[in-house]
Amino acid sequence: MSAALALDRSAQLYSRVRRVIPPIEWPAFSDDFDAILALKHERNAVVLAHNYMTPEIFHCVADIVGDSLALAREAQKVEADVIVMAGVHFMAETTKLLNPAKTVLIPDLRAGCSLASSITAADVRLLREKYPGRPVVTYVNTSADVKAESDICCTSGNAKKIVESLGVPEVIMIPDQYLAANVARETGVKIISWAGACEVHERFTARQIRALRAENPGVVVLAHPECPPDVVDEADFAGSTAAMSDYVTNRQPARVVLITECSMADNVAVLHPNIDFVRPCNLCPHMKRISLANIRGALETMQHEVTIDPAVAGRARRAVERMLAV
Ligand code: 13P
Ligand code: SF4
Repeated sequence: MSAALALDRSAQLYSRVRRVIPPIEWPAFSDDFDAILALKHERNAVVLAHNYMTPEIFHCVADIVGDSLALAREAQKVEADVIVMAGVHFMAETTKLLNPAKTVLIPDLRAGCSLASSITAADVRLLREKYPGRPVVTYVNTSADVKAESDICCTSGNAKKIVESLGVPEVIMIPDQYLAANVARETGVKIISWAGACEVHERFTARQIRALRAENPGVVVLAHPECPPDVVDEADFAGSTAAMSDYVTNRQPARVVLITECSMADNVAVLHPNIDFVRPCNLCPHMKRISLANIRGALETMQHEVTIDPAVAGRARRAVERMLAV
């Protein structure tokens, strides 16, 4: 590509994110943008990015973006040979479960999740022994091993619907104690939960939300259901990352705060220049392991490939597919 064309493309990309990335930081990304574009073409690859990716990934190199549910759904339709997951490990595993014949790469194997690491397959077997006959509803933020012990998966975007679809008075819902408590209140279903929590959302407090309201009159508060119930009580709306983004798009509040991971507000804010975003910042250290440089590295070296033991994959896939069928 000529230097003039490359400059033009860089300017076009920058216009998407200039509200949230200072001009001084931009030139450092150019090399990686050019390399990622060429490598995607060469490898017949696509990049799937979660809503918590930083804006230069989310708005400039991702082919498909969304919440966990949207990424799982879209992963089923991908035609490329290679899928790079710009997200955390459980998301890459879900993508691999739904695309066993494709190469799924995660740019940094350390991109984990406090919820996924809070529970093992053996823990689920013990829960089943302790509470026989209750269906196990497992949040997608878990390993394939844990999904394989489950009846059905859910995401924050469909948890209520999935629990209601079972039509039973009591379920085991793992591993997020707060999502479970929020869903129990919404559905009236009795929920046996697990002591896991998201290290990003559990840090928000009801007091903090009240202080945000006092400091920012008229602010509309949107919270993720991984937040503790008393935080959700203080919010105007609770929903998945995609539901929060849709709320902003459809309702156009004059001033809003997203009670969730930091980058989400950046990604939504660039699309709505007329809305005032109040930004408390809780970073997810796992999501932040993913960078333009390691997405490029993944495509150059074809690492790190996500593999799932076939003895586990079939059962785990069934739990994810049951969710997608609801
Ligand atoms: P969403 O499915 O709402 O995007 O949430 C995923 C996640 O990891 C939230 O912390
Ligand atoms: Fe896990 Fe929380 Fe990070 Fe989401 S934000 S990946 S739930 S630690």
